[in-house]
Amino acid sequence: MDPRKIIIALDGHSSCGKSTYAKRIAAELGYAYIDTGAMYRAATLACMDAGLFDNTDSPSLEKVEAKLEDVELDLRFNAEKQRTEIFLNNRMLEDLIRSMEVSNHVSYISTLPAVRRKMVEYQRGLGEGKGVVMDGRDIGTVVFPHAEMKIFLTASEEIRATRRYKELIEKGMPANYEDVLENISKRDRIDSSREDSPLKQAEDSLVLDNSQMTVDEQMEWFRKAFRQVRGATNA
Ligand code: DC
Repeated sequence: MDPRKIIIALDGHSSCGKSTYAKRIAAELGYAYIDTGAMYRAATLACMDAGLFDNTDSPSLEKVEAKLEDVELDLRFNAEKQRTEIFLNNRMLEDLIRSMEVSNHVSYISTLPAVRRKMVEYQRGLGEGKGVVMDGRDIGTVVFPHAEMKIFLTASEEIRATRRYKELIEKGMPANYEDVLENISKRDRIDSSREDSPLKQAEDSLVLDNSQMTVDEQMEWFRKAFRQVRGATNA
């Protein structure tokens, strides 16, 4: 293990640009980028495909747990597309998991402790060798409470909704701005109020509100903060 490599935990609200930011940081440092939201989304899609959401928005814990037994997740880097893709039992899901339907069900699935236990175990394994930028909601508080660098990213609800709406339209996916805004607001509420691992700022995290910032400006902020962390950890 390279002793200079650290774990960077990037938490924050839905659609505030965590994955774009995490990818840029990972590329600059030569670190691996790990999108933990994709894991919760993939588990949700597996439940949807099994018909668990057909007549309800909150399928029973027993049914979800039984489904999870045969959920095998795998993250692979696609060199041609320069992106990490998530596979569920060897099926590539990267685009399917971004749909509004998955976004509408994922918060429920991610409130379930049995789901969280499985995901956190997998995530800790991926961070063992350090040199990772991991984005999510509970990375700095639960998954890696001792991460050397923690960033909490946020932006106003309207700005986040506009960004997510544009992203869906660009991908050719059906979207309506009001629905996107409502989904973001609902997910904020559920993510922040759930009992198990709610979204909250770790006490030792650096907070960045990127509402009025470009990605380049965020990278400038990051470089400065990273130098300070490096200095403090002597890494
Ligand atoms: O980052 P995202 O929007 O793709 O995440 C999808 C959902 O997964 C989000 O609504 C909350 C949940 N999630 C979580 O509970 N814990 C994480 N570490 C990452 C995501």
